[in-house]
Amino acid sequence: MSQNNKSINLAKKMDYIEPFHVMRVLKRAKEMEKAGHQVIHLEVGEPDFITPEPIITAAKKALDDGLTQYTPAAGILELREAIANFYAVRYGVDISPERILITPGATGALQLVLAVLLNSGDEVLLPDPGYPCNRHYVELYNGKPVAINTQAENRYQPTLSSIEEKWSSDTRALMLASPANPTGSVLSKKELLDISELVLKKSRNGQAATLIVDEIYHGLTYEEGDDNASASASASASASARISTALSLPDSENLFVINSFSKYFGMTGWRLGWVVAPEAYVEALDRLAQNIFLCAPAPAQYAALAAFSNESIAIMEQRRSSFKKRRDFLLPELRNLGFDIPIVPKGAFYLYANCKNLSENSMQLASNILNNIHVAITPGQDFGRNYPEEYLRFAYTTNMEGLQIAIERLEKFLKIA
Ligand SMILES: Cc1ncc(COP(=O)(O)O)c(C=O)c1O
Repeated sequence: MSQNNKSINLAKKMDYIEPFHVMRVLKRAKEMEKAGHQVIHLEVGEPDFITPEPIITAAKKALDDGLTQYTPAAGILELREAIANFYAVRYGVDISPERILITPGATGALQLVLAVLLNSGDEVLLPDPGYPCNRHYVELYNGKPVAINTQAENRYQPTLSSIEEKWSSDTRALMLASPANPTGSVLSKKELLDISELVLKKSRNGQAATLIVDEIYHGLTYEEGDDNASASASASASASARISTALSLPDSENLFVINSFSKYFGMTGWRLGWVVAPEAYVEALDRLAQNIFLCAPAPAQYAALAAFSNESIAIMEQRRSSFKKRRDFLLPELRNLGFDIPIVPKGAFYLYANCKNLSENSMQLASNILNNIHVAITPGQDFGRNYPEEYLRFAYTTNMEGLQIAIERLEKFLKIA
């Protein structure tokens, strides 16, 4: 959106930063609620559950103990160690806490990594559809986002040939997410391995190539993965359907893994995430974090120490099974209504539904559905330029009762529309 107002000096890059359409949907939905309508929210990308009680109790104690001051820029050592231990228990991988930096959300981690990697004009490959902020971060750090259009037949993940096709002499990094937003698609260990080998080959050919894997929806997976989770996993953790972390790949010299307390741990508003970086980059990341964040919120860091207790994990696992029930209800119902959902998403809490049988314009359809039957859904336009007008994202971040009401309303609406 270009700014014609001559009295302010917006940077040129602001032209490329698009607002979220979902925010408009949310605003309209809130207005409807104010007017007395019962709106069913299937647009929101955050768990409807609040933070588990043991984490809240730990936060209160941290505040009572006066733990309110700056921490080291990379985060408190206890939390970095707790995360390293989590990788050992849950995935059977050995990560030095020194390689883990705590950040203000995955958002902080993604920006930190791109900021230390990119020179002006460097290209970053991004799957489309994908998390929309990533291309904006690339712009913000003067890089050039390059979309890889993905297809349903490849579970909306980039193939080796599509990566090769888009890779140029200016390409500096490939960003992936597994499970992905908006599709819930998961990369298998073999796919991750093949992709990382390709990136490694590029970097060994003289280019500084890096792979950035966003694992923010890890923990929220609903089928058994293809990895061999650690036999030493604790009883509660072993109930989880685990998928491979990219950190189990044999080579990590070109690999950054991003994660967060937001989704599985139910801590969106606490603003806490992390990055596991190759050792050689840690000093630079720490130096930049000192300058741009100082540190992630201290009380949130102390609270998060309680996120790995058996008690917290048991709560989160219960929630995971609720999400699975919701997915297993919503997916066939939406298919029955005429939405085309070609893959069964293994993770996250999203269904990315093709609606071209129902409408030529998903934005218009989302708006009609909201206005007529008060069901809020995110239009595909938020996730890129790869046929977004054919897609809607349904987030099952609403309880079963809400989902049932949404389906009943959609059934009636689509019959007469
Ligand atoms: C794929 C992905 N990465 C990162 C984020 C940002 O998460 P955080 O709350 O940790 O900053 C989101 C939020 O929805 C997301 O979907």
